[in-house]
Amino acid sequence: MDEGTRIQGLIQIKKILVLFVIPLILLWATAVIYLTISYPDIEWNWDTINTSDIHFPSSFAWGTATAAHQVEGNNFNNNWHLWEESVDDNNVSRIHNNDKSGLAADHWNRYLDDIKLMKNLGVDHYRFSIEWSRIEPEKGVYDKDALEHYRRLCQALVDSNITPVVTLHHFTHPIWFERLGAFEKKENAQFFVKFSTLVFKELRDLVPVWCTFNEPSVFVAQGYFNGIFPPGKKDPVLAGTVMENMLNTHVELYHKLKSLPGGDAVKIGLVKNIFQFDPYRRWNLLDWAFSKLLNDIYTNGPLKFLKNGESTFYLPGMVNNHMSNPDAVGSLDFIGLNYYSRMHVKGHLNPKEPFTFDTREKDIMTDMGYPLYAEGFYRALHTINDLGVPIYVTENGLADDTDEVRPIFIKRYLYALNRALKDRINIKGYFYWSLMDNFEWAEGYKMKFGLYDVNFETQKRTLRKGSIPFIEMVNKRGADERGYIVSVGEKAPDFEIHYTSGKKENLHDLRGDVVVLQFTASWCSVCRLEMPHLEKDVWQKYKDKGVRLIGIDRDEPLETVLKFQKDIGTTYPLALDPGANIFGLFADKNAGVTRNIVIDRNGKIVFLTRLFEEKEYQEMIEAIKSLL
Ligand code: BGC
Repeated sequence: MDEGTRIQGLIQIKKILVLFVIPLILLWATAVIYLTISYPDIEWNWDTINTSDIHFPSSFAWGTATAAHQVEGNNFNNNWHLWEESVDDNNVSRIHNNDKSGLAADHWNRYLDDIKLMKNLGVDHYRFSIEWSRIEPEKGVYDKDALEHYRRLCQALVDSNITPVVTLHHFTHPIWFERLGAFEKKENAQFFVKFSTLVFKELRDLVPVWCTFNEPSVFVAQGYFNGIFPPGKKDPVLAGTVMENMLNTHVELYHKLKSLPGGDAVKIGLVKNIFQFDPYRRWNLLDWAFSKLLNDIYTNGPLKFLKNGESTFYLPGMVNNHMSNPDAVGSLDFIGLNYYSRMHVKGHLNPKEPFTFDTREKDIMTDMGYPLYAEGFYRALHTINDLGVPIYVTENGLADDTDEVRPIFIKRYLYALNRALKDRINIKGYFYWSLMDNFEWAEGYKMKFGLYDVNFETQKRTLRKGSIPFIEMVNKRGADERGYIVSVGEKAPDFEIHYTSGKKENLHDLRGDVVVLQFTASWCSVCRLEMPHLEKDVWQKYKDKGVRLIGIDRDEPLETVLKFQKDIGTTYPLALDPGANIFGLFADKNAGVTRNIVIDRNGKIVFLTRLFEEKEYQEMIEAIKSLL
């Protein structure tokens, strides 16, 4: 090659680089940067998080959840029974280890004992499902005894101060309904609406919260995409139809039940599972593209339908089903969220296998092969909050035979839940999945989801040690809407006061005096506003009349506190509170700082303020006066 040709060649390469390769790299880099910023991968540093410093509102509902086919036993007349009895093309059972649901946890007969298990946990709600195939074993033939059984169950719960929460469809329906084509056919919705109406009329006086469907996305994905739940089909177009029909049936049923007597008094919603699909390689646009497609079809599409009444069920080259129903708008009194984990997606340039799921070595895994990802729970709560309706976490839990991961899971996920509450997301309650071990669908009995271990030979239930963090949180004192964990009328918790002067004494040493604890911090502008008033109206006026005003400074070093006092010009004593541990005796540690606590001569709390509001402040002054 002569020199001229070589130079020509180099010029050509340069041209290609300038015209194509560099712009492509820039485009790719811009896209990756944009996606990374728009969809950050939230991961918290758990080493620095104290998961026990949290309080839930005292009105928060705590419960456990089960589903009929998984726990009742002897359900031989539904789609899952057919599935358990069938084999695949290789003559292999559809269920792991050839398990059959059989007697399951015999909850049908043992429900009274199981209510005692709930009482032992301290929960006050129970979510369970009604087995349609028991109530209507043949089309149009109803079993009164079965209906009465569920009434007895609800009554027993109510008598035990446990609120029943009913799910009308949790993956199972009668064989006759399956044979009619179930939700593959639009016209079959009427049968489910009829059954649900009957159950509603029977139980509406006992059941204040109703879930129409459990997880349409899981039912559709596993039954019509992956073929591992009945009816075991792999048909994306049919999957789209079933999704549309289920969502429309929810809408119809919601409006029907609301129109019945008692409809206004109850809350009706749908249970949505969220599993995030996140790119395995955040630099890889294919991973991003498939993640987006999966998130849209699985989560965003159904949520959009429930919010706006319009949406699409779309996978390129496979299905493009537009769903539209104006009545979907306003068809939720609440939304149920089931959250377990996320999946990492790898995209491929292989049309036969365009994507696969992968796991990362650093993740802690559950027996289901899901990574522990409490941050995803937090993300999912934000996602679902976009519907603008109250939220119940209707399921959350893990399979862990070792019982070693369970306590970590519980602590982290409850922390994430609490953090979402702090963001003012309207979450009404949380149901742990599950009360006890049960038949885990295609995974059979291998998966141990229970707070209670069940010995399926003897039906003996035993509390798992790893469940204790859940029990502790349920039974921990709740915080009120102002963040207080103490209330008026109670004895003030005792603690040692470390004054900035170096002097120390206990709160109980001050018995005989009226004590006003003022929680403060140098960075708190409302505190700064209030402090001169406290100085004038409380300290200067009553310091010689038996009133002790003490400012407790939240977690700041001595020098900062001394400087703060000097700046503000107050003279009443300030004390230190490293780690905000004293604050944490009175209020949720994460709650705001400006608050005063008035304690009478006997150590009893008589007044609590929050922020600096004229009316409340004056009432506090009156309360102090009345104690002198
Ligand atoms: C279902 C439950 C199931 C749980 C654990 C949820 O998708 O509603 O029935 O047992 O996940 O896999």
